[in-house]
Amino acid sequence: MHPAGPPYVLPTHTPSLFRSAVVEAAARLRAGDIVAVPTETVYGLAADARNAVAVAKIFAAKGRPAHNPVIVHVAGGDLARACVATWPATAERLARAFWPGPLTLVLPKAADIPEVVTAGGPTVGIRWPRHPFMQALITECGCPLAAPSANAANQLSPTTAGHVQRSLGASVPLIVDGGSCAVGLESTVVDLTVEPPRVLRPGMVTAAALRDVLGALSTDRSAEGDSPRRSPGQLPRHYAPRARLLVNRWTDSAELLAWLNGRHLTAATTYVLAHTHLPSPEGLAGVSLVPYDPEAFARALYAELHRVDALGVDAIVVEAVPEEGEWAAIADRLRRAAA
Ligand code: TXA
Ligand code: MG
Repeated sequence: MHPAGPPYVLPTHTPSLFRSAVVEAAARLRAGDIVAVPTETVYGLAADARNAVAVAKIFAAKGRPAHNPVIVHVAGGDLARACVATWPATAERLARAFWPGPLTLVLPKAADIPEVVTAGGPTVGIRWPRHPFMQALITECGCPLAAPSANAANQLSPTTAGHVQRSLGASVPLIVDGGSCAVGLESTVVDLTVEPPRVLRPGMVTAAALRDVLGALSTDRSAEGDSPRRSPGQLPRHYAPRARLLVNRWTDSAELLAWLNGRHLTAATTYVLAHTHLPSPEGLAGVSLVPYDPEAFARALYAELHRVDALGVDAIVVEAVPEEGEWAAIADRLRRAAA
């Protein structure tokens, strides 16, 4: 095993590197350590979900408040069912339709899932990720892996190993590099302990796709301000870059510049991410194009925000996207980053 010290990044881009990364990460996890790992949504900071001391290290490394529960990752239906007290027909139908994939199911927890994982609550969020490294790692460990996104609390989620290194740096001993995340946004979280099931966090598994499988589904967000919060990730401000983030529409450069001026924003220190109305870069810190396609936009968004934030700009203006359908999760993250 690599000695303790600065974070050590394990590559996985050949079959033998992949295999040795699985073995080393599994050894660390079995020993009660934390490891940053790739998933198809965002990078996660993993620990053995049944080891309360190990899971507590995740909270310490992230500076995550104890009232925010973490998702438990499994590989296979048997391990999923072992983590919960009940496995309703709704869970079976959603698992068949969307697992492995970017969907988390909230269910009553099994007795051996420690309270630190569920923030003291009676339910646990379970996900079977699609990323081949996570599947191989969970199978090698033989235990479920608790893993929130591998970023400091309330910061932008990481979609590359480099993002993890920059956000958590010295507090993570081992980072596995599994490439850029294919989905790029956190999983959809659905609460199956209420009737009808309710979306707690929108993701790239859309409400329409869930409704096709479940029939009834609530996407009511009106309880968001309630206390205690049903899903603390749904705090209004979350997923935020360091720079101020704003979302707006414009038709041409002149309209955009006038709007910046009206808000007392300096164009020279403002970066624009556009999908349709690409402004002239003149006078701005920079402009880049994000593809106008929900899957491609989701895949690129955090990487673009990380990259632009690192330039040290004061503000990032993102061209508004539709609020509904395939765009709902992207609109949700932009709204929270701008709050
Ligand atoms: O895609 C993802 O879900 C990524 C990757 C690593 O799997 N994980 C992730 O974890 O985004 P995190 O901790 O950043 O967000 C987990 C969300 C939070 O909003 C949390 O409150 C909610 O899931 N959550 C977890 N367990 C829950 C539970 N038992 N009840 C309600 N919400 C829960
Ligand atoms: Mg997170």
